[in-house]
Amino acid sequence: MEKLDSILLDARKEIEGSQESQELNSLYQKFLGKTGIVTEQLKHMKDLPNEEKKTFGMKINSIKNEIFSLIKIKEKEFEKNKVEEQIKNTEFVDLTIPSKERKGSLHPITILQEKLIDIFLSMGFTVEDGNEIETEYNNFEAVNIPKNHPARDMQDTFYLENGQVLKTHTSAAQNRIMKKYGAPLKAIFPGRCFRNEELDASHENTFFQIEGMMIDKDVSVANLIYFMKEMLTNVFGKEINVRLRPGFFPFVEPGFELDISCPYCDGKGCRVCKHGGWIELCPCGMIHPNVLKMGGIDPEKYQGFAFGLGFSRLAMMNYDITEIRLLNSGNIKALSQAKIK
Ligand code: DAH
Repeated sequence: MEKLDSILLDARKEIEGSQESQELNSLYQKFLGKTGIVTEQLKHMKDLPNEEKKTFGMKINSIKNEIFSLIKIKEKEFEKNKVEEQIKNTEFVDLTIPSKERKGSLHPITILQEKLIDIFLSMGFTVEDGNEIETEYNNFEAVNIPKNHPARDMQDTFYLENGQVLKTHTSAAQNRIMKKYGAPLKAIFPGRCFRNEELDASHENTFFQIEGMMIDKDVSVANLIYFMKEMLTNVFGKEINVRLRPGFFPFVEPGFELDISCPYCDGKGCRVCKHGGWIELCPCGMIHPNVLKMGGIDPEKYQGFAFGLGFSRLAMMNYDITEIRLLNSGNIKALSQAKIK
């Protein structure tokens, strides 16, 4: 037993006096290794009388544990010293220090989407998520575009091998949302849409829309105009005039193209509005009775309006971005020039 105590004393002295981790390794071998001093002591166990075996065993175990933890503590100390040394020699890079070069920011599309969501929430709309992969039924049939209808050609579609599609427009969620809430209903659903487009400065295969629907008794075009004007006035921070022109979409009747008075020149004519004073912004209309019916809503009792705002384009206008492809590019240098207001 005394021998064990003196082994512990030696070990403590040597471990505390060690200068580097390599030395610690050899101390581990010296005391606890297969042929180490402590391990050797175990061999004496068998010569001891039975009643002493237990205390001896316990003692040896506690010494083993103690030496082991002394080594670990010393090891930690060496590691800490090493890091401190590196900091002193400025080898160390602190990744948590904020960069002087460039601050992160949200993507222009995200900023605009959050702004639009806030505006519609404040007007009592709920916000819904749409799927990116949709059934053909939801994307087409349920919005009154039957198979072989020529309107399908206007939306060059990515088909998946299982027959589903990448949604070509946010209108694809109309049916699901009508079935979920029934009437009355006020909802918007922003989302990413996909079309097999020839790419150019204003066409992308991936773009963002925000769809909206309001269904109730006595909803009319006047409500549509009111909500669109409110939304746009909030987005641009000043009063925006709108006008409707007839437009064809199978899921609305009547259907419109909504133009806004150019917010840059207040309708006087400039580069952005191509000197016409108006900008085509948002297709919309009164929801077709077939679409209501397929959504489980009685068109004799309820009417509604719907709109599908392409907000990639709105983001470009709002942030002076001239190339739609930049929005999906991840090109931080170019995106950071967007004039976020
Ligand atoms: N889904 C149409 C498209 O992407 C846009 C659209 C037009 C949506 C009229 C509507 C609407 O809700 O009423 O081409």
